[in-house]
Amino acid sequence: MGCGSSLVMLVADEQNIKNESRQTTTNASMNDAGKKSAMTSGDGLSTMKGGEEEELTILNGKGCGLENRLISYWYSYDRDNLVLKYGKGYRMEETTFLTYDFLKNVSSSEDKENIRKKLYPYFNAEEKRLIRMYEAMMNSLKGGDITVTEQIVEFDKNPFILNVSPLVLDSTKVNLFFLDEGNFTFSASLSPACRELYENVKGCHLNYPEEVTGFLLSNAIRYSIDTEGCLLNQKLKEKVQKFVGSNKEATYLRITLRSSLGKSPGIPYVLEIWPQGHYSPIHNHGNANAVIKVLFGSIHIMIYNKQVSTPYALPLKEFDPREGDVT
Ligand SMILES: [Fe+2]
Repeated sequence: MGCGSSLVMLVADEQNIKNESRQTTTNASMNDAGKKSAMTSGDGLSTMKGGEEEELTILNGKGCGLENRLISYWYSYDRDNLVLKYGKGYRMEETTFLTYDFLKNVSSSEDKENIRKKLYPYFNAEEKRLIRMYEAMMNSLKGGDITVTEQIVEFDKNPFILNVSPLVLDSTKVNLFFLDEGNFTFSASLSPACRELYENVKGCHLNYPEEVTGFLLSNAIRYSIDTEGCLLNQKLKEKVQKFVGSNKEATYLRITLRSSLGKSPGIPYVLEIWPQGHYSPIHNHGNANAVIKVLFGSIHIMIYNKQVSTPYALPLKEFDPREGDVT
């Protein structure tokens, strides 16, 4: 049963600034509404900062929307819980600027019922509207090296309630604790494209037992990277020369498996080799679906919001998938 929807939009800079100032006005009037409802139903207007909920009086905090470049914003309508949310970039708790909960601090079921009745015209499943979607894409190139290509408007049938975990757990391994804790995204809940990739890579391993192969591939790779004149050592040097000048840590190796089927290398499958301490600059993957399985060691992943201003951006989330983990 659907219980609301999320909307993602990418709008042009100038329009966005207008929208933002309109948003501020709307917030102000919502604030009034909040004050009014506070008398009867409790104040439901709050904002999220660094994962903490704060009471909201005027929405004028730093980063609340007036940015001089293309930006996407999202709006979440939670019909069953009577919650509205607004944010920028990815739909995450960390990017939620505004939350309006019509039932916040309302404890008696009679008061709740009255509020639901009053808001029935806005929160019900009976009145349906037709929305026609055109496949209009918008490109933007802003925020350093970050390129964004996405549809102007996207709908998600579910409202935004909680962050989705970046770690994937195979649905066959789910137990009641995992269901309760929400620390994983279950494989059966992945998008169809990710599901296909997941099913195809989940059984892959780098090393076979040494007794079978006579050596460990991970040792061979390490040796080739560390040893002057070996293939991987040579390839890394070539990449440094070609792409990053003196900054040799800003490289890694990509080995496309079988023939590349897409425009970019690594579609559909690529083996990435990250020597210890190496990294890539902040980048995004457009609207691509991708699954990573860590075959050896661990990687440190930092998630940034869309269209951040490098190099001043701070990550929204950091995590360390290790051998066997899928993200
Ligand atoms: Fe990447």
